[in-house]
Amino acid sequence: MKRTLSIVGAGRVGRTLGKHLRERDWRIGAVVTRSPATARAAVRAIGAGTPLAWNGRVLIATDRAHKGGSVGIHPHENNRGLKGASAPVAGGRLQMTFRGSELQLRHRVASKAGASAPEDSVFSRLFAADVILLTTPDDAVADVAKSLASLVGAKCKGKIILHTSATLDRTVLAPLARCGAVTGSLHPMQAFGGKVIPNLNGVIFAVEGEPKARRMAQSIGESLGGITVAIATRDKPIYHAAAVLAAGSAYPTIEAGVHLLMRIGFSRARAMQTLVPLLRQIFDNIERIGPRAAWTGPLSRGDYAIVSKHARALKKYPREFRQSYAALSLLAGRLLAKNPAAALKKIKRALADG
Ligand SMILES: NC(=O)c1ccc[n+]([C@@H]2O[C@H](COP(=O)([O-])OP(=O)(O)OC[C@H]3O[C@@H](n4cnc5c(N)ncnc54)[C@H](OP(=O)(O)O)[C@@H]3O)[C@@H](O)[C@H]2O)c1
Repeated sequence: MKRTLSIVGAGRVGRTLGKHLRERDWRIGAVVTRSPATARAAVRAIGAGTPLAWNGRVLIATDRAHKGGSVGIHPHENNRGLKGASAPVAGGRLQMTFRGSELQLRHRVASKAGASAPEDSVFSRLFAADVILLTTPDDAVADVAKSLASLVGAKCKGKIILHTSATLDRTVLAPLARCGAVTGSLHPMQAFGGKVIPNLNGVIFAVEGEPKARRMAQSIGESLGGITVAIATRDKPIYHAAAVLAAGSAYPTIEAGVHLLMRIGFSRARAMQTLVPLLRQIFDNIERIGPRAAWTGPLSRGDYAIVSKHARALKKYPREFRQSYAALSLLAGRLLAKNPAAALKKIKRALADG
């Protein structure tokens, strides 16, 4: 039987996962972003789904084909006459307003907040899915989870809700878990640029969460051609720190090298031409024989006089250049030298002499 997926926050990651899963026979339910235009663009990119816009309080049906459910409303210009109208739904009333030609449905809860769920088709569409992916930016996940939980309450019972943050774990979805959702996370270790939809074959997916959520995350990762690795909830921050330290540090360190070469007369293009082949060679060697065996440069040879010379030369540049050089030299001594204690002592002395 086809499984259904709704996506809240259909940006770079949400669109990519949505498109690949649609191609792998998943049915796409609601596709939610903040603005109607991006919701429609996301549906085009995914190739299916109902575009909805969400401002934290109101879900807006943005496609004209979408039919209202229990209150029988079509979000069409002809419905303008309904402006300001309201209809009874469980636990309160559904208020209808228009913004341009877009219908907005706002659930006004009669009893205490969160005590009942709106019955409109817009929310039903979102929560009719077997799996809901929360792919908003990290700093929005907690708020979105809280708002959705207070709006839909027990409607999310049994639904599997996964976010795709590297650092956050399932506990950020606690308000939804308290309503009965099964929560977890699925993080693809892949950069999503936005211009092209990347192929996810062979990509590592870290999966974390409640057992049922983890099993679903594993099944999604594997059906995308990825390799899934289970991560303990408490280990999510260190999992992400590892990637940022190893890969994210390449951006500033390479730019620092380019910057120094440009200060002595290289053009940016020539500086890149100088450093990039070197980096490629290093990556090839690391992949082939590992960082310790591939290690080259003055520190690997124990040539500490050169380290002093470098530290001295870097004094003319902003403080962070010298600090980074020192920190990376010490890290190399600790992790790559045969005798780390002796190497660290010598590196500290060489840096102080510089
Ligand atoms: N980018 C990467 O390389 C990458 C890799 C792995 C994991 N991740 C993780 O994946 C998640 C999504 O990242 P991304 O790069 O795909 O983000 P993104 O491209 O910035 O997209 C975020 C989407 O969320 C929507 N959004 C923002 N706030 C919202 C809210 N309050 N309610 C509903 N929708 C909201 C945005 O709507 P609008 O379009 O209307 O603004 C947009 O569609 C993050 O947790 C990120 O850490 C990212």
